[in-house]
Amino acid sequence: MGSRFEIGDRDFLLDGEPFQVISGALHYFRVHPDQWADRIRKARLMGLNTIETYVAWNVHAPRRGEFDLTGPRDLGRFLDLIAAEGMYAIVRPGPYICAEWTGGGLPGWLLADPDVGVRRHEPRYLAAIAEYYAQHLPLVAARQIDHGGPVIAVQVENEYGAYGEDADYLRALIDLVRGHGITVPLLSCDQADDAMQQRGSLPELHRTITFGSRATERLALLRRHQPTGPLMCMEFWNGWFDSWGRQHHVAPPGTNAQDLDDLLAQGASVNLYMFHGGTNFGFTNGANDKGTYLPITTSYDYDAPLAEHGAPTPKFHAMREVIARYAPVPDELPEPAPPAPELTVPLTRALPLLDALDAGLLGDQRVWDRLPTMDDAAQWEGLIAYRTTITAEDAVLSVGEVRDRALVLLDGEPVGVLSRTGHDRTLPLPRRAGELTVLVEDQGRVNYGPKIGETKGLIGGARTAVRELTDWRTVSLELDPLGPELLAALDRGAALQPETPLAGPVLVAGSFDTVAGADHFLRTDGWGKGLVWVNGFLLGRYWSAGPTGTLYLPGPLLRETGNELVLLELHGAAAPRVEFVAGPDLGPIEE
Ligand code: GLA
Repeated sequence: MGSRFEIGDRDFLLDGEPFQVISGALHYFRVHPDQWADRIRKARLMGLNTIETYVAWNVHAPRRGEFDLTGPRDLGRFLDLIAAEGMYAIVRPGPYICAEWTGGGLPGWLLADPDVGVRRHEPRYLAAIAEYYAQHLPLVAARQIDHGGPVIAVQVENEYGAYGEDADYLRALIDLVRGHGITVPLLSCDQADDAMQQRGSLPELHRTITFGSRATERLALLRRHQPTGPLMCMEFWNGWFDSWGRQHHVAPPGTNAQDLDDLLAQGASVNLYMFHGGTNFGFTNGANDKGTYLPITTSYDYDAPLAEHGAPTPKFHAMREVIARYAPVPDELPEPAPPAPELTVPLTRALPLLDALDAGLLGDQRVWDRLPTMDDAAQWEGLIAYRTTITAEDAVLSVGEVRDRALVLLDGEPVGVLSRTGHDRTLPLPRRAGELTVLVEDQGRVNYGPKIGETKGLIGGARTAVRELTDWRTVSLELDPLGPELLAALDRGAALQPETPLAGPVLVAGSFDTVAGADHFLRTDGWGKGLVWVNGFLLGRYWSAGPTGTLYLPGPLLRETGNELVLLELHGAAAPRVEFVAGPDLGPIEE
């Protein structure tokens, strides 16, 4: 490996020689850590010489005062694996990363205080960033190319020109990054738009561009803003993400390959976004809201060259062929993925969610004299139960706003749903007294645009036909992980009959034996909306709204016998069983 990486007049220079960066995005936080090495190796086999990753702040700091760099969060190990494969690395530590990741990587606990500025020069925001950088940039600095490591460049912020124009903020980030001993070139990236290119960078940063087509025209735009130095497309969008309730996105391999060829023929450098998308496990998916709130699916397959389960796709081969025209590509090809084990798992025990809630098995209850947000309850993801008592006169529930989806129950019986996507705010209630439970799901924090940093839960008060509802009790549901007492109660739960449909909201469990270490695909047909855990790991959300029809279950989570499967079904299921199928079904595509 080289030892010096610089920006030359027309090219990147590696030890003084022109070097075309042919990189692919691979987010360590979207891949099981036991699979990192495999995915990196496959990137090399496609002909890539560099891996790019964001660093997601909220992955490492789920709560204020915590910072974790171990196991699935071991960024140092991820970079070492890239080096071991003989590849280079580009690190993009944000602090904002977008990436269809909850909050665009910015922690909920940071932005719950409305006085904290978002993506601008504001002392509290900058102080938190200083701490975040101090917690992880030293390990990046120690792995820079001039220290014998793989890191050749670091990006500051992300598409900043699409959001703000605060040069002092960008300058403060640069000072902080440099202050932590980052000496490699610092980059900015912005979309193919003159105003954005203008606002998003500073002379201390080398500009790059993001686009998914029309490479020649877009590189010319970048050149106008940066007369000298290498051209780089920091995100060549060779696929796209999926939103619940919409079609599955694909991008034809032939078109992608042609665009890549045009780009490389000009001597430009590239980072394929994504080389391998991976999965939004747990509650980590983000959301977009450009008038309609659209949460991102659990799968982040992205129609990338390497599929969500690490299988080479036709796009892998098409891109490898193009890359081979410009750079040495290893002869070796990755093996196609074998079909996954097919089996049916009966769910044998059930525990109604509200019973678990009443028994205190999902967390402690808090009492309020006003309607709190999720953030007021110091909760940054997942589900919160709001409870209060109503009378027959109340007749209707009307909330300022629901973020993002509320299942409303009266004495445990579902009476309706309020959906942010559906712009719902008001729901008629049965005309009787009882205990009202409003189970609100944060479906993912917005990751792009002005709604970054907004609070979650029920917002702006709750009224009925006759009064404001102010006496609330809340439980922030402890779901990740499920507590041992809850699991024990579920184990003792009611026995389920094989063909009987399930009424939610309910927790159900079953166990199964299978091929240890083999990838599985859990088919969610017949199920409504909910969450799945396997051996204690919260895999993610499923939803009949689609498009995704299967959830990817990484092999390293499975043993040969006694695998424990738990589902939280909010609405209902056709039968208490799940099927594992041979391969992924990411849903119908746009014609
Ligand atoms: C932008 C962002 C990325 C990602 C893509 C879309 O380019 O920089 O983080 O959100 O859009 O997938």
